[in-house]
Amino acid sequence: MGQEIMISSETEGLDTENLRAAVIGTGAIAQRLHLPAYRKSEQVDLVAVCDVEEKKAATVAAEFGIGSYYTDYVEMLESGAVDAVSVCLPNHLHKEVVCTALEHDVHVLCEKPISTSLTEADAMIDAADASDAFLMIDQTERFNPVYEKTKELLEKGVIGDVLSVRSRFSHPGPEGWSPRSTWFTDAATSGGGALIDIGVHNADLVNYLFGSVSSLSGYSDTLSMDADVEDTAVAALRFESGALGTFETAWRTDPESIEMQIVGEEGVIYVDKVAPSLRLELGNDCGTVDVPIPDRSKYDGPVEHFIQSAKANSEPTVTGRDGKRALEVVMAIYRSSESENRVHFPLETEVEE
Ligand SMILES: NC(=O)c1ccc[n+]([C@@H]2O[C@H](COP(=O)([O-])OP(=O)(O)OC[C@H]3O[C@@H](n4cnc5c(N)ncnc54)[C@H](O)[C@@H]3O)[C@@H](O)[C@H]2O)c1
Repeated sequence: MGQEIMISSETEGLDTENLRAAVIGTGAIAQRLHLPAYRKSEQVDLVAVCDVEEKKAATVAAEFGIGSYYTDYVEMLESGAVDAVSVCLPNHLHKEVVCTALEHDVHVLCEKPISTSLTEADAMIDAADASDAFLMIDQTERFNPVYEKTKELLEKGVIGDVLSVRSRFSHPGPEGWSPRSTWFTDAATSGGGALIDIGVHNADLVNYLFGSVSSLSGYSDTLSMDADVEDTAVAALRFESGALGTFETAWRTDPESIEMQIVGEEGVIYVDKVAPSLRLELGNDCGTVDVPIPDRSKYDGPVEHFIQSAKANSEPTVTGRDGKRALEVVMAIYRSSESENRVHFPLETEVEE
């Protein structure tokens, strides 16, 4: 009779094997964030990359010491050699690739924005619900220590109930990020311009920090770029809590400007992501206090959190539903701008976007 193996309660539910990870799309975000984070983890075997550009896939695989590369993601998923994937593709491809990976019960970390329409986002959420694997959306900013600390101050009630917020997320545009990638300004591929590209960070942050938006009025326009997509968008927000807010995003802001002012009943918090700094004013003659910001995210970062969630088979902190809520704010601003009307949440998903 074989020897009985004791399983300690500490390791129960935890996968002690290394996670077999792969990355689909080997462009800027894959090379700057996902691949270095997987390579750094001792709990991951980085087994494959996939890119339609074969030369790029081969070069990136060699650079990161990865044994296999593919040009067809379905072939890679069907190899059975992958437990988890990062989807780092142009936005219009997210839905199809994410749903296929989930159908293969492969955990997915999908780049923001979740998709280019709410209908696609719903399909991705349904695919995750039907799968043994989970879907995480890389709303990266939630893992920035400056916002984690801001959330902690708000939850502790340091400034009391939030009355109003001003939230701006603007940078010079996609050319400096991924110079060869013209798809960022092609609406059919990206789903829009600055608003869906970086406004979706702003949208996720306001949802995360201040709760759901209940209605908004917005504008989006192409003010200075020679492009078919918007370079600038603004909105006035009403939150379910009753608080009011303003939302700004633009690709034509050099140097970048990513900041918030949060006015509460008992004080004001100023958040600067670029510097970065967190200042607190409590209106009690103490002046402004600089709040120390931790060096690193409490989750270590989005990819590390994804790895830990996959190893423990537990739902990650940013789900498909969170990704959809961020996209909903973006879509509401487009709809409000186009219709010149105030838009109420939840949005109708049936409307063609
Ligand atoms: N979280 C963040 O802060 C952040 C920052 C930048 C970009 N992003 C997101 O990451 C995603 C990718 O952006 P990027 O800047 O890396 O773009 P990119 O253009 O640099 O890379 C995209 C890659 O996908 C490849 N590709 C295209 N079609 C493919 C297919 N069918 N199969 C396999 N590969 C294919 C391209 O060849 C390219 O290498 C986008 O959704 C973008 O919004 C997120």
